[in-house]
Amino acid sequence: MNIEKLEIEISSSGHITNSYILYNDKNIVIIDPADKFNIFKKKIEDEKLNLEYVLLTHAHVDHILALYEILKEYDVRVIVNKKEKDMLEAKVNNCASIFALKQQPFNLEKFIFVDDGDCIDFDGINIKAISTPGHTVGSSCYYIEDEKVLFTGDTIFTTSFGRTDLPTGSSEDMINSIVYLFRHYSNCLIYPGHGASNVKLSDIFDRINRCVKVYFNLDLQKLI
Ligand SMILES: [Fe+2]
Repeated sequence: MNIEKLEIEISSSGHITNSYILYNDKNIVIIDPADKFNIFKKKIEDEKLNLEYVLLTHAHVDHILALYEILKEYDVRVIVNKKEKDMLEAKVNNCASIFALKQQPFNLEKFIFVDDGDCIDFDGINIKAISTPGHTVGSSCYYIEDEKVLFTGDTIFTTSFGRTDLPTGSSEDMINSIVYLFRHYSNCLIYPGHGASNVKLSDIFDRINRCVKVYFNLDLQKLI
């Protein structure tokens, strides 16, 4: 399996969000189709790829913009935690206004709603959804055990963790999610929704702990 990282500029704001493409020969999975549908379309057409799944780490607008057109063009299943449903239906604010955009609801026909521990079979590659609420209530990480990689969305970055002050966010949940990840996935390489990737989670413990001390006045060392 190969992982390609795309750093996609959100057209309306200039902000950068990471999308990842997982390749299993000609079959692919897109994790967080941030924006610029044509980038994905060109790749799929030029390389004759078969898009099997789109995985969403959460439903914030900067992670889903190209999905509207992907759903029109391809017969693809979309995997997302069931607690993000309200945001996808535009019943909960997905932060569109921060990016100078208007929130648009999805038709959920092609969506498969998952829960903590559910697995997706990508042609023999097992991808496990892990619930990591905090940034949003339905935020998930996706874990590929064979490769020891973890796609962390906006739960954890290589320098910090996601905001908890946006709709459905929770500081208490975020702490629990951070502790859970360090307890069980320390030996994984992380691929976050923004910034650097391909960094071992255990190698950023001190940095994350400094942020936890500043924001939450807690010591991760004592919680793990
Ligand atoms: Fe986000």
